[in-house]
Amino acid sequence: MSEIDFNDRMLSLGLARVSEAAAVASADWVGRGDKEAADQAAVNAMREQLNRLDVTGVVVIGEGERDEAPMLFIGEEVGSGNGPAVDIALDPLEGTTPTAKDMPNAMTVIAMAARGTLLHAPDVYMEKLAIGPGYRPGVVTMDMSPSERVSSLAAAKGCSTEKITVCVLERPRHDAMVAELRSTGCAISFITDGDVAGVIHCAEPEKTGIDMYMGAGGAPEGVLAAAALKCMGGQFYGKLLFRNDDERGRAKKAGITNYDRVYTRDDLVKGDVIFAATGVTDGSLVPGVKREVGYLTTETILMRSKTGSLRRMIYRNPRT
Ligand code: FBP
Repeated sequence: MSEIDFNDRMLSLGLARVSEAAAVASADWVGRGDKEAADQAAVNAMREQLNRLDVTGVVVIGEGERDEAPMLFIGEEVGSGNGPAVDIALDPLEGTTPTAKDMPNAMTVIAMAARGTLLHAPDVYMEKLAIGPGYRPGVVTMDMSPSERVSSLAAAKGCSTEKITVCVLERPRHDAMVAELRSTGCAISFITDGDVAGVIHCAEPEKTGIDMYMGAGGAPEGVLAAAALKCMGGQFYGKLLFRNDDERGRAKKAGITNYDRVYTRDDLVKGDVIFAATGVTDGSLVPGVKREVGYLTTETILMRSKTGSLRRMIYRNPRT
């Protein structure tokens, strides 16, 4: 089996088509109150398109374990089988609830890297911390308290803590962290779902106004977010969180032995990566699918860490 050639431009375009196809399919389910159906439509379309790609792929971040996900399960072999050996991380619909409720920030996400270079993250929570590019390593760490992180980042940025904005997933589990952040005077930008986009916001603080992301969300989404930051620049730290033995068992099955490890961006994504995401509902990263008479339009963000390139691609799909 050959190795992936990150200079192969057609491969990245192929990946964009995969995320586009999932967005087009899930668009029919926006606002219909059925998140499972929306997710299934995205899964079917993503899988069909992925299997047309000339790669020998294996899903390392997918819809779940083989016994709980009929398709795109972890370990599933995907691609035509006529191409390089790759790891695939995917979330066919990142934001099933916002899709079902027609709320912002749902998108389809996929990343591809050389075989063996993406962490097989179990389906548990992960404590996440991210900042954008241009800071020395260690300016914020998992060991620091939320307020220490804000102070340290403000000092590095050369501003007061009031000028720092932190993005947080709005959940009761974050109440104490939010209260501590408030005590620093920093601003908090809440998201209701979709922490892949939440983390990515840190990569372009001048555009998004967001300096730092912190809080607990899905571990698989952590690997996808790290892949995006690998393309755009920025620091990411993640620590798996376990609520019970079943979750520790999932980690063990994924080959993880050190349950307390803090993973850096480059531990989660060890080599180069290609990342694509397409908007389903309007989001700050990509706009959602637009419907007009006779066609629908999607926007995809496509990035390659090898070159640091970032493309925004508009796709017009004729509909009867
Ligand atoms: P789904 O699309 O699977 O619903 O995930 C959306 C999401 O908001 C993720 O972005 C995030 O990591 C996770 O859910 C947070 O989990 P929870 O809703 O349990 O707090």
